[in-house]
Amino acid sequence: MKEILLLLLSLSTAGAVPSTVDIEITVPAKDTLLRSLDRNLVSWSIQNRDLPIFARSKLLENLFKALSTNIAIGQSVRLGGGESDKTTYGSDISITAKKYQSGYYGAQAQGNVTLGPNYFASFKDKYAPDTRYIWCLNLINTTNNFEAAISTAAGVLEYLGDELDLFEIGNEADFYGSKGFRDSNWDASMMLPEWNYIADEIQRLAPEKTIKFMAGGFANPAYIVTKDFDIPGIIAAGFQSSRIPWYSMHLYPQSGCSGAVTIAPLLEHNTLSDILSNYIPQVAAAESVGAQFAIGETNTVSCVGRPGISDTFAAALWLVDYVLFAATIGVRRVYFHATTKGSYSPVIPINYSLESGNYSAGVLPLSYGAYFVSEILSFNDTLLVTQIEGGNDTDYSSYSIWDEKKRLRKIVFLNLQSYNSSTGGTNPATPNTEVYSSAEVRPSTRVTVATPWEPGQELSLIRLQGPGSNSKSLVNVSSFTLSEKDGSVTSNLVDTIIIVQENGSISFDLLASEAVLVQHYSEVLANRHPTKSGSKAANSTMDGVVMRTRGADMSFACRHDLSNKIIISVILATIILLIS
Ligand SMILES: *[C@@H]1O[C@H](CO)[C@@H](O)[C@H](O)[C@H]1NC(C)=O
Ligand SMILES: *[C@@H]1O[C@H](CO)[C@@H](O)[C@H](O)[C@H]1NC(C)=O
Ligand SMILES: *[C@@H]1O[C@H](CO)[C@@H](O)[C@H](O)[C@H]1NC(C)=O
Ligand SMILES: *[C@@H]1O[C@H](CO)[C@@H](O)[C@H](O)[C@H]1NC(C)=O
Ligand SMILES: *[C@@H]1O[C@H](CO)[C@@H](O)[C@H](O)[C@H]1NC(C)=O
Ligand SMILES: *[C@@H]1O[C@H](CO)[C@@H](O)[C@H](O)[C@H]1NC(C)=O
Ligand SMILES: *[C@@H]1O[C@H](CO)[C@@H](O)[C@H](O)[C@H]1NC(C)=O
Ligand SMILES: *[C@@H]1O[C@H](CO)[C@@H](O)[C@H](O)[C@H]1NC(C)=O
Ligand SMILES: *[C@@H]1O[C@H](CO)[C@@H](O)[C@H](O)[C@H]1NC(C)=O
Ligand SMILES: *[C@@H]1O[C@H](CO)[C@@H](O)[C@H](O)[C@H]1NC(C)=O
Repeated sequence: MKEILLLLLSLSTAGAVPSTVDIEITVPAKDTLLRSLDRNLVSWSIQNRDLPIFARSKLLENLFKALSTNIAIGQSVRLGGGESDKTTYGSDISITAKKYQSGYYGAQAQGNVTLGPNYFASFKDKYAPDTRYIWCLNLINTTNNFEAAISTAAGVLEYLGDELDLFEIGNEADFYGSKGFRDSNWDASMMLPEWNYIADEIQRLAPEKTIKFMAGGFANPAYIVTKDFDIPGIIAAGFQSSRIPWYSMHLYPQSGCSGAVTIAPLLEHNTLSDILSNYIPQVAAAESVGAQFAIGETNTVSCVGRPGISDTFAAALWLVDYVLFAATIGVRRVYFHATTKGSYSPVIPINYSLESGNYSAGVLPLSYGAYFVSEILSFNDTLLVTQIEGGNDTDYSSYSIWDEKKRLRKIVFLNLQSYNSSTGGTNPATPNTEVYSSAEVRPSTRVTVATPWEPGQELSLIRLQGPGSNSKSLVNVSSFTLSEKDGSVTSNLVDTIIIVQENGSISFDLLASEAVLVQHYSEVLANRHPTKSGSKAANSTMDGVVMRTRGADMSFACRHDLSNKIIISVILATIILLIS
């Protein structure tokens, strides 16, 4: 894992969200501020070696299915991390798939990873065909002209096939000099010929394909760059070509390897936006050469996360604010790192033991943050995002989401005010930590948003909710819950129906530590959503509020999903070819 200096930004003392917040959506939206949303905005990073262990249960598979149903495209998974640079591959290695699933490292001692063909067999069927991979290759091992990287690439090309999107070469190479893997003066211009050599050799392995790469993958955040190891630096050094459509950097806002870590920064919008604003020049550099920028590995706290922080509902709220703010500055994707036992993982795939005790497989709150984002991204067309002007402070944040015709489609509001509850204070999947409890009644805020929406229209309002910011369980998205056992849907989402007022305003209440998403109810009906198999949609009224429970029997008014679009384009292309 990694060591990153904790950048302590001025942490203002915990404030409070006022009891009323009035905001207005500026119409028309300022073109210069709108950024398009990648459907894979929330993506995943898993050590190459760990994916077989995740494949032992259905938890990750079913989480992926739920997310992908909403976004109408498979998940993007980067297989990489510290162990990428310890990995070798042999086509004759006969380690069985079952052995890989047990967490076996290979023939060498602990710390080295030897992969063979059965490695791929150990997980492939679980996630195929929708999941697409980025594979991080070993750049440290120079033996026999980078045989480790090149032979591994051959295995990846053979067994992942079209499921492979990109290769990375080297994990966190900005540390190679200080860790003794290269000379201490090794910089991007010295890295370039090594990188190009490996890239050329891989291309030679698959002449019928155009192999693409994600370059960068540096450990240090944009505000502590070593040498020229950042995106402007490597582009200047020559990392620029049509085979590099993506650049990435890693980011852990708090270090779990050393130093104190706290839950507080997860609930501070200004801390998050200050950190992320450092990436504006990284995005600009990538875009200047026609490429895209991703945070290629990230999470709440480095070094497998920290119980009491990473496994809380605060982390779910943080994820939502993180990816939406990142999107507003042009970061296209954010890869959340997961391990099989880490408290920062969305799911824990199997029971495990630590010195502190025995823990179960299960679902952690971060999953519900990712699920909430998939509801935001659920749409049949491209969406664009911007912050709502005047709609953010230390404790709250808001975003407006538009379609390509610049029509307002969705509104997201996050109340990040801390609230501690003794309910849901533990999760059998992670170690117990002190359970705090706030003495006062949970504060509530009435938000009124002036919108351009037609009065009288029916809107769906859904909530990312939990008992308190510190809760580790009992989190859901408007009743939508995943089974702790296998990640399948156990309870369907219930849309609350609200109506656009006479003057175009909408109002809703939300609690300290809660997020809401508002959109036309017709949009919910137009897109596919995951539901409990065999369930029926239902309507109800509670205290005059209309609620509609989604069901597996719901028909979708107009499903223009991506596969249909692709089929149509293929037909059109065929017709054009036939005509010409
Ligand atoms: C990994 O393998 C190499 C070569 O066989 C060996 O020198 C090294 O000690 C091993 N690493 C660990 C952590 O055991
Ligand atoms: C480096 O790669 C070679 C294969 O080219 C392998 O035999 C050797 O064990 C690797 N070294 C380490 C330290 O992993
Ligand atoms: C974990 O489970 C094992 C096997 O059941 C048991 O021997 C051990 O005492 C347990 N450890 C803790 C810390 O409870
Ligand atoms: C995992 O642990 C839970 C709780 O102790 C137990 O109920 C379950 O049977 C275990 N599952 C497996 C596969 O061992
Ligand atoms: C977010 O809040 C900060 C501090 O109040 C303010 O300076 C900034 O303009 C706000 N951003 C937007 C988009 O309103
Ligand atoms: C909740 O507990 C955390 C951790 O002790 C603390 O930092 C925070 O201020 C508490 N929040 C409230 C509202 O008491
Ligand atoms: C969802 O969470 C809310 C708030 O914590 C809770 O009241 C409700 O019972 C939960 N619903 C389900 C189905 O878990
Ligand atoms: C719009 O109407 C609502 C409900 O009558 C009211 O609360 C709100 O203040 C009005 N907004 C404006 C901008 O007049
Ligand atoms: C719920 O109400 C909506 C709107 O009135 C209606 O279209 C739908 O058929 C109803 N669903 C059920 C299950 O009654
Ligand atoms: C998306 O759905 C809307 C109706 O919800 C429709 O007007 C629009 O044409 C659709 N766009 C595409 C690209 O299918």
